[in-house]
Amino acid sequence: MARESIESFSKQLEYEPQIENADNFKTKDKFVVVGMGGSNLTPGLFQIWKPELDVLIHKDYGLPEGDLKDRLVIVSSYSGKTEEALDAFNVALERKLDMVAITTGGKLLDMAKENNVPHVLMPDIGVHPRFAVGLSLMAMAKAFSEENALKDLKSLAGSFDPADYEEKGKQIAEKLKDKIPVIYSSRTNSPLVYCWKVKFNESAKTPVSYNVFPELNHTEMAGLDSESSKKLLADKLQFIFLKDSDDDDRIQKRFDVTAKLYQDRGFSAEIVEIEGDSKWKKILSSLLTADWASLHLAEMYGVNAEDTSMIEDFKKSII
Ligand code: PA5
Repeated sequence: MARESIESFSKQLEYEPQIENADNFKTKDKFVVVGMGGSNLTPGLFQIWKPELDVLIHKDYGLPEGDLKDRLVIVSSYSGKTEEALDAFNVALERKLDMVAITTGGKLLDMAKENNVPHVLMPDIGVHPRFAVGLSLMAMAKAFSEENALKDLKSLAGSFDPADYEEKGKQIAEKLKDKIPVIYSSRTNSPLVYCWKVKFNESAKTPVSYNVFPELNHTEMAGLDSESSKKLLADKLQFIFLKDSDDDDRIQKRFDVTAKLYQDRGFSAEIVEIEGDSKWKKILSSLLTADWASLHLAEMYGVNAEDTSMIEDFKKSII
């Protein structure tokens, strides 16, 4: 199933999101996106595409502090059942803020209908939220009123083939087997490196650490500069550096210099180039490489890439 979800990813970009209850929809240029896990991966990806996009990304109960009157609150929950997102919906309602919900159903859909709140009803294609990033991108583009993004993403539906990235993903999985992945990117690409973390955590069931340049050169790397850390960690960690030719030249230099410093200290660091001739192509190719790598790693570990029962069981245990 996970394999089919990855292989058919481009179909998600054909989805044409509609806003239900559109009379109450307020077009704005400032946003708060509230949602957890797989339902709040895409706003950051929009900020890679358009860095000036004014979005507060909130992953908690309620809403961020401060005056949010000039913002559109986007409540995103794939299942429509997530406690934090439902709480944010109620708080936005109480504070009479402009809002739109994005979901496949559940209580969030019921609440949106009951309160005449505009909503985008995504099709339930029977996959887990982290495999539905294409649908989420389209729905989020609609909520952001970013018609150009909708057009660009839709145009990729016919030409973007997820299978092109399987071999690269498999090679990364082979490097990562029996290691803890530590994944780095530029700060600009931090939403992307976070998607890598989520996909490895949830599909391959492995702990993952991530960090971004240039901050890590002022902090994290010092943690590797001793014989004891080498003895303790060198054979356990595999560093993956997600390098982007669009990154500032000074940042790109840091990838190379840091990889060499790590290798000199006995750590294995691999530079992985982000491929693509446009921003969206780079984002999608990197996401799909992460999907394949985490699927192959799951297969090597003999775990079910689909299964997230620990997350589901936890949710039930706090009701
Ligand atoms: O990938 C997952 O299953 C999780 O990260 C969920 O996305 C997260 O728990 C939130 O659930 P939902 O997306 O249904 O709101």
